[in-house]
Amino acid sequence: MQTANSKSSTLSELIFKQAFIDGTWVDAQSKANFTVYNPLTQASITKVANLGAQDVELAINAAQVALESWRSKLPSDRARLLMKWHDLILAHQDSLAQLMVLEQGKPYPEARGEVKYGASFIKWFAEEALRDQGAIIPPFAKGRKLLVLRQAVGVVAAITPWNFPNAMITRKCAPALAAGCTVVVKPAEDTPLSALALADLAIKAGIPKGVFNVVTCDREQATEVGKLLCTHPLVRKVGFTGSTAIGKLVMNMASSTVKRVSLELGGNAPLIVFEDADLDLALKGLFASKFRNAGQTCICANRIFVHQDVIEDFTQKLIAKCQNLKLGDGANPETAIGPLINPRAIKRVQQLLLQAQKDGAHILYGGRILDQNLQESKQGVFLEPTIITGLDNHSELAQSELFAPIVNLIPFNDEKEVIQQANDTPYGLAAYFFSEDHRRIWRVSEALEYGMVGVNDGSISSAVAPFGGVKESGIGREGSSWGLDEFIEMKYVMLGGLN
Ligand code: SIN
Repeated sequence: MQTANSKSSTLSELIFKQAFIDGTWVDAQSKANFTVYNPLTQASITKVANLGAQDVELAINAAQVALESWRSKLPSDRARLLMKWHDLILAHQDSLAQLMVLEQGKPYPEARGEVKYGASFIKWFAEEALRDQGAIIPPFAKGRKLLVLRQAVGVVAAITPWNFPNAMITRKCAPALAAGCTVVVKPAEDTPLSALALADLAIKAGIPKGVFNVVTCDREQATEVGKLLCTHPLVRKVGFTGSTAIGKLVMNMASSTVKRVSLELGGNAPLIVFEDADLDLALKGLFASKFRNAGQTCICANRIFVHQDVIEDFTQKLIAKCQNLKLGDGANPETAIGPLINPRAIKRVQQLLLQAQKDGAHILYGGRILDQNLQESKQGVFLEPTIITGLDNHSELAQSELFAPIVNLIPFNDEKEVIQQANDTPYGLAAYFFSEDHRRIWRVSEALEYGMVGVNDGSISSAVAPFGGVKESGIGREGSSWGLDEFIEMKYVMLGGLN
C-alpha cells in the first residue's frame, strides 16, 4: 500500500516507488523503473517509476484540468492548504531528513536544516498570497477606469536539482501554488524520493488532485521528458535549477512557445578577504559557504582571494580548521562532510585536480579520494577537504563551478584588481567579501557583478530574500516578495463608456 496515513510517518513509510499524477500513484506505462542509489554505499535504495513522454503528457493535462478550480479559490483557501502542507513537512522533519541523507548523502543536521528551510518557503508564500494586490491606475480620459489584475501564469513545470532535493522544490512550487498555478515537478534522477515524499504530504494536506504532480525518470529519459515540459503548449512557465549548460537548452526550448522561464544556474562565487578583515569571521564565513553540502551548492565560495598581507596567517588558520572536518556517513552526528553525489562527480573532481596540478597548483592540504571506510581509493565516494594554491584566475579550475570541497586560494594586492578578477567569469550568482571598512563595504558591494553579495557572512539564503543571479547564472528571483511575481501575469483591463 503506497499511502502513509499515520500522523508522523517513519522513514520507510515515506519511500514511494511510483510517480504522482493527478492525485494517484502511478507506474510508467512502459512499466520501466530506475534505481536510486545511496551515494555513500553506492547500493540501491529502491527502484522508482521511469516515466516517458506519454506519462508526462498525462501529468501536464491533469495540471491543466486542475488549474481552473485551483486558481479560482480564495487566496486564503490556498494559503490554508499550503500551511497544512508546511505543518506536515515540519511534523515529518526527522524522517524527511533521514530520507535526504539516504539519497543525497549530506550530514543529518544539514538535511534537517534543509527541510526547515524548504518549509519556510511554503509559509512565506502562503502569507504572500494574502497580500498580492492589483492596481487601479489614474485614467487617461474621462469615463474610463484602468485596472491591473494579477492572475496565475498557468501550468508550471519545475525542474529541480539533486543538491537540495526538498528546498528547491518548495522554493519553486510554493510561490506557484500560492499564485494559483498548478505544477508538474521533475526531480533530479539522483534524488526523486524526497520529491515523492513531499507529494505524499501534499495529498495529506488536502492539496487537490492534479495541482501538484511529480514525474520521475532516469538520466536517459530526462532528455525527452525535459523537452516535453519545455515545449508543451499547456505549460506556461518553466522554473529550472541546474547547470548553465542545461539552463541554456531549457531557455532555447521554452522559446518555441514563448514560455516564461526562471533559471537558477551555475555560479563561480568569489570570496574576498581584504587586509582589514576580521580573519576569524572570514574563516567562519568561508566554512559556512564552502563546505555546506560537501561544496555542492551553486553559491559555494569557489575562488578565495586573500590579500597578500594576511594570506600566510589565513592559510595556517584554514589548514588547522580543516583538520577538524570529519568525512563520513551523513547519518553519523560527527560528520561534517558527506560523499559526493555519484561516481561521475568523483571522476570530474579527479580530472579537475589533475589538470590543476598540470597548470601549476600545489595541494597544501587534502586532495585524496577516499572510500566509505576512509581509505584512499580511485573509486571512492569522498574528496577530502582540499586546499590548493598557485593557480591564476584564468586556470580551468578557477573558471569551473567546483561542486566539491576544494578551497582555491588566490593572493591579491589591490582592491580594483581583485574586483576585476572576481567579476572575470561568465557567472554572477553569489559573491562574498570580508572587510571592516564601511566605505569599502559599500564600494565593493556595488562593484561586484553578482545577484547576491554576502558581506562578513557566508550564509545568505533565506525565504525572505531574493535568490538569483545575473549574467549566465540565471534569470528571475526565487523567494522574497518578488518571488511571487514570477508566477503572475499582469492583465490590463480598461472599462470604458462610464461617463
Ligand atoms: C543552490 O545551491 O542552488 C541553492 C542554495 C541555497 O538555496 O542556499
